[in-house]
Amino acid sequence: MSTLGERAANEIKRRKTFAIISHPDAGKTTLTEKLLLYGGAIQLAGAVKAKRGRASAVSDWMEMERERGISITSSVLQFPYHGLQMNLLDTPGHADFSEDTYRTLHAADGAVMLLDCAKGVEAQTKKLFRVCKQRKMPIFSFVNKMDRPGREPFDLIGEVEHVLGIGVYPVTWPIYRGATFRGVYHRQKREVHLFDAKKAGSSAASGSEVADMIVTGLDDPNLKAELDEQGYSQLREEAELLDMAGDAFDQERFIAGDVSPMFFGSAINNFGLQAFLDTFCELMPAPLPRIIVGGKTPTIAPDDETFSAFVFKIQANMNKSHRDRVAFMRVCSGRFERGMKVHVVRTHKDIRLANPTSFMAQERTIVEEGYAGDVMGVYDPGIFEIGDTLTSGPEFSFEEIPSFSPEHFVRAVMADPMRRKQLKTGLDQLAQEGTIQLYRPVEGLAGDMILGAVGRLQLEVVKYRLKAEYDVDVRLEPLSVEFARWVSRTDGQPVDMRAFDRERVGTPCLDVRGRAVVLFAGDWQFNSATRTFTGINYAETAQGQTATKQA
Ligand code: G4P
Repeated sequence: MSTLGERAANEIKRRKTFAIISHPDAGKTTLTEKLLLYGGAIQLAGAVKAKRGRASAVSDWMEMERERGISITSSVLQFPYHGLQMNLLDTPGHADFSEDTYRTLHAADGAVMLLDCAKGVEAQTKKLFRVCKQRKMPIFSFVNKMDRPGREPFDLIGEVEHVLGIGVYPVTWPIYRGATFRGVYHRQKREVHLFDAKKAGSSAASGSEVADMIVTGLDDPNLKAELDEQGYSQLREEAELLDMAGDAFDQERFIAGDVSPMFFGSAINNFGLQAFLDTFCELMPAPLPRIIVGGKTPTIAPDDETFSAFVFKIQANMNKSHRDRVAFMRVCSGRFERGMKVHVVRTHKDIRLANPTSFMAQERTIVEEGYAGDVMGVYDPGIFEIGDTLTSGPEFSFEEIPSFSPEHFVRAVMADPMRRKQLKTGLDQLAQEGTIQLYRPVEGLAGDMILGAVGRLQLEVVKYRLKAEYDVDVRLEPLSVEFARWVSRTDGQPVDMRAFDRERVGTPCLDVRGRAVVLFAGDWQFNSATRTFTGINYAETAQGQTATKQA
């Protein structure tokens, strides 16, 4: 396949498409805002957050969002930084944590894992990290809130390595004067970045503007005075210890997601951000070739002449009266030009991408041109599905975005049984769209559908949309199910699904694609199933278009 020219190659090289993964409250909103501040996209921090609370913020697309003042689906923030184009995919985190959060990671080329220095690795971080690890994505770690008392840095490194199973390479190291966080030592550059602690308390430097800092070396005689005797000797000792104990930074292991460069700082005060950002820009890879299925080659390069993209998110019902949807796609190769005709591989249909939109903070603009790494929203009159591949002609597909095990399971009970058909249509469509997962029990409850969602809010969205779009009132009854596992036999033979029901070791179901899946009430039930049946694989995610064989 031929490649695009030099200008395009330079455009691709400029793109850094990434997401921030964290547990709620670690400081993701604050860090996002600070990246925009450092990128010059906003002049004063505080703007994004202030808008978040306002009814007219960009996320008022859905009526429900307006009512609740929350953002249901993630948006994409594009901003320039030192000649680069940053594409930051926002992963919903609080109450709006959902499958979209996972899927968004498939559109990213790397991730920043944000940790609270007092809390370390938390539950949601672990879940998101698993998806990144599965994709072998490069991951940066940023330990935040260093201005507050927290855990020992060595202790945090140990936890990340032990709990997440990834190596850690500290690029920066925290510096203290007494108990006060004074700055960071950049190990690779051998630079000491000191922040003005006195100014940090005042409003001018409390984080709404880029922080002042003094850059110096470890051997600067003034350093001892800036820190105290103990802070200074601690820094020297720890710097030496790190050099002796650790290996040199290994770029290849980083790209493969095996080692994470770690940074320390305080997003709210802008401490440690410059060192992080500069190294991030240096290390974060530009879009890399992506694996394809059914093409002439196993991967497609970002500068291949063929345009290709995949849909990773569909935002539905932005305008109730029109029922429009916006499909978010990530460009993987070729040059996108506004108005170009593309081929939807699943349906073999051609469509014109007339008014694709990009998102800068709260503003939407029409995309005239795009390259690998870019994300754009496209008006969708109902022709796209999550995971769809679009190309400028040739038929190939990107790897399927897996289905992730839900954490909330309910049964939909109708107020009016006469509307069963509408309920079925509605649920089928919402499941196809990827708003919800749907399971049909093989036995027992047969006929009743089980709804599964990664985030509780997804269930609320379904209830709302069933009423608004299909005129069906439902009550969602929680089920005592904790997780799902997609099952297959190691010998390739059909799985005897009914046996799970017979032995009472899980609820056997089929998902919306006809794949065999068993729902478990907890680890105890899952453990009994694995003890009772041998030769069965239990997968946490489902990937593959075809129905799994079952008896
Ligand atoms: P999230 O999006 O990950 O949920 O976190 P967010 O940025 O909203 O930050 C959560 C809280 O942590 C906020 O405080 C925020 O100000 C604070 N925070 C963020 N970075 C730092 C930091 O470096 N140091 C300290 N000390 N705090 C930090 P809040 O009281 O919940 O909200 P607000 O009143 O400040 O808006």
